[in-house]
Amino acid sequence: MVMDYEEALDYSARWMALIRREEFPSQAEAHQIINESKENFAEHYNRNWLEYRKSITEAGDWAAVEWAGSGVLFKDVLGREYLDFLGGYGMLDLGWSHPVVVETVKAQLNRSPMPSQELIDPLRGVLAKLLSTITPGNMKYSWFAASGTEANEAAIKIAKLYTGKAAFIVAVKAFHGKTMGSLSMIGKADYRAPLGPLYAGPVYHVPFGDAEAVERQLDICEKVGIGVAAVLFEPVQGEAGAIVPPDDFWPRIRAATKKYGVLLIADEVQTGLGRTGKLWGVDHWDVVPDILTVAKSLGGGVMPISAVCTTEEIYHPMMYPNPFMHTTTTGGGALACSAAIASIHVTLQERLWEQAAEKGSYLIEKLEKLSIQYPQIYEKITGKGLLIGMHFKGPEIGYKVAAGLFQRGILVAGTLTSAQTIRVEPPLIVSYEQMDILLERLEDTLKSVSRSL
Ligand SMILES: Cc1ncc(COP(=O)(O)O)c(C=O)c1O
Repeated sequence: MVMDYEEALDYSARWMALIRREEFPSQAEAHQIINESKENFAEHYNRNWLEYRKSITEAGDWAAVEWAGSGVLFKDVLGREYLDFLGGYGMLDLGWSHPVVVETVKAQLNRSPMPSQELIDPLRGVLAKLLSTITPGNMKYSWFAASGTEANEAAIKIAKLYTGKAAFIVAVKAFHGKTMGSLSMIGKADYRAPLGPLYAGPVYHVPFGDAEAVERQLDICEKVGIGVAAVLFEPVQGEAGAIVPPDDFWPRIRAATKKYGVLLIADEVQTGLGRTGKLWGVDHWDVVPDILTVAKSLGGGVMPISAVCTTEEIYHPMMYPNPFMHTTTTGGGALACSAAIASIHVTLQERLWEQAAEKGSYLIEKLEKLSIQYPQIYEKITGKGLLIGMHFKGPEIGYKVAAGLFQRGILVAGTLTSAQTIRVEPPLIVSYEQMDILLERLEDTLKSVSRSL
């Protein structure tokens, strides 16, 4: 494109005015925004975002441009309302624009949004202390970034620094993020294969939930003299479709990692802070990992923030001899920390993990009934708390269900595995009435999908 500063000035000014305006755009403006958004995505962001068969595309409605949200409801720019049963892929445990988080962040914004980087900024310390009081075991130190993948990158580095070893044991179908280190640990060929060699140390993939496979791999590594830094798993696999491991899995891998002197990392980026019905996913099995990562809802759905938490002993190489061993300039800034402090407060005050457990049991039971009622459509229902997977007979059916729900004003989405599994992951503040609306519209969708088979 030809550089045109005047055009960029005018365009940014027009959008700054729109951002600052409190009222909804008029219908004419809304249609202009829709066309402009479609064009901007197609021409400058990612054309295939529009063409890929997401539920909104399948529903024949590319025009669903989101504009505002509150609680479990959000509106598109035309003012149409949707119930959010996707929860921003686990980032909206508190719902859209939680007032306590928004007010806290606004107040910090008015004072100082970012730290100097040179002085001691109070909020970073406050958040680290808060995390030390709510994480399992004696985790004491935290390091902050913006995304889940960055937290996992840090966990990988900490494990290597502490153990002086390089190998990792991870799961097939695991998801830990898409930057190079985390990507090396994920278990899906589509995202790894096009990039060729990834992390240089050995990475061994084992089936998720298979404790014997982990024990065997640890034993082989010891026999052949390959040093394993850590075993890294999600407590409940999220992107693989809300896959819950057998109850003996986490206790057995905890025992095995201790036996072989290997660290255990729990990626709680999606499961952490209540999503599965306990504050931490590993709490289901009373397991204390050595390193824990958290992101997504840590920012209360308002700011991006992630953390890696661990014990003083394991964190030592991050502090000595060089405290700048692992840093980021913008991650863990004051606005992000203020959001996380408020988000933890709301989570504890509302005991959101208990809500997730109760609401999850209600929803899973009803979904299971539907899956039995529609055997030609459903494979099974999986999940824990409000991290639920609806597994269908094939991806085409999954698309149809997601699209049918979207046409009926409900947002869900596929998993990283495919649209064969649709995730049901609403904000934890979802009401029973809203869950009943989902169930009603889902049944209506299933009737129409089964007619089309
Ligand atoms: C378990 C898990 N780890 C890591 C990530 C990556 O987080 P982010 O997308 O913030 O980089 C995700 C994202 O879905 C996740 O579910």
